[in-house]
Amino acid sequence: MRGLLLLLYMFYGISWAQSDVTDQQERLEWFKDAKLGVFIHWGYYGVNGITESWSLYHKRIPYGEYMDQGEKFTASKYDPEEWAGLFKEIGAQYAVLTTKHHDGVALWDTKLSHLNVVQKTPAKRDLVGPYVEALRKEGLKVGLYFSLCDWSHPDYEVVFPRPDTTKDYPPKKQKNSDSWERFVRFYRGQLRELSALYNPDLYWFDGDWEKSADQWGSMALKDSLLKWNPRVLVNSRLNDYGDYKTPEQGVPVVRPEGPWEFCMTMNDNWGYFPSDTNYKPFSQIIRTFVEVIASGGNLLLNIGPKPDGTIAKEQRERLKVLGGWIQKHKTAVFNTEAGLPYGHFYGPSLISKDRKKLYLCLFNNPKNYIQLKGIQNKVASIKILGNGETLTFERNGGAEWNNIPGILRIGIPKKENLDQYVTVVEVSLEDELLLYRGHGNAVELNK
Ligand code: GLC
Repeated sequence: MRGLLLLLYMFYGISWAQSDVTDQQERLEWFKDAKLGVFIHWGYYGVNGITESWSLYHKRIPYGEYMDQGEKFTASKYDPEEWAGLFKEIGAQYAVLTTKHHDGVALWDTKLSHLNVVQKTPAKRDLVGPYVEALRKEGLKVGLYFSLCDWSHPDYEVVFPRPDTTKDYPPKKQKNSDSWERFVRFYRGQLRELSALYNPDLYWFDGDWEKSADQWGSMALKDSLLKWNPRVLVNSRLNDYGDYKTPEQGVPVVRPEGPWEFCMTMNDNWGYFPSDTNYKPFSQIIRTFVEVIASGGNLLLNIGPKPDGTIAKEQRERLKVLGGWIQKHKTAVFNTEAGLPYGHFYGPSLISKDRKKLYLCLFNNPKNYIQLKGIQNKVASIKILGNGETLTFERNGGAEWNNIPGILRIGIPKKENLDQYVTVVEVSLEDELLLYRGHGNAVELNK
């Protein structure tokens, strides 16, 4: 009997695990092809131009003064349709908006706290709904950022002096519960609101590191999120319950395993921070994008709109320049996957989904010839994307009859055909890519 039970358990256990994996693969489908998303850090912190929430943590500003910024958070020029149009134009497939950062200020009309832009700011309205609607109109996927830690909630302990904030939270109905239970109910309630109101495609959690998965109830939360929307995606910051990894600020040196997204600021801050003029040059933003997609990830590039809802000139410019590069090279960007493994080409590359085209990305102007190693296929043609210049090529060395392919010497493009930032060389193969990954060996039977 016990044996039978064990067998049943194993059978159902395994098939359940398999279907979960398939589901996850299905849910991740659009995400794996997205390549570019826009991160939006919009909150009180842009009023004084200080660090989002962390200025509280580091005691750089008293709690009261931080919250006073709300009086100047006007959203008076907020035009989410313009935002969405811009995101679409540059080739982004999704965006992620901070609905609530660690400071606890909600950008929507939450019924669970008075600390929201409807009640506390001259904006006086829900700012999440119009964003969701505008993105959907453009066919973009909707991401909502939500900080699990909430440094304003009276039941959440903080490391900085905070006055009594209970008046900002409707009286607690639940008796006999301890403060942590109350907090968990509160934050889950807010997520229930967000899901019911906006049904996002993706939740971008943050701040999970402050508590354990058990404390947050991460597993139960993931279950609920999937119950509310079986197609929803969740980033990795829900302890171990996320669907994809989220490295931040430093481009990974080693290719992460599984689906991932790299988020990055354009200057050194997430929110609007006018005194921070340390903007990354266009070239760096484009190179980073190329490196990320060539390693199979998405870039979630951040903007920090001003308190009135407009996007600073420097940030708009960067979005547009990246968008221009993507437009010119869209065949390499979309419908491709992570490129060649280490050793074949000195630089990032991409492989088309049918595995018949390789895209070699040149960060520098080539000298003598462009080198590609270990390709066993016959090459049909090679050209430069964006202007169609065809390049000559010649195979050299190797011992083909022994499956040692030698190198492919590709002629260098005309100077005027090199891209200002990153030039992309399209190598069309006669059939599906076949790579030689050997260490080399003696040619035992020679011609
Ligand atoms: C960090 C910070 C937060 C920021 C986030 C974006 O985790 O805590 O301020 O919003 O990164 O990735």
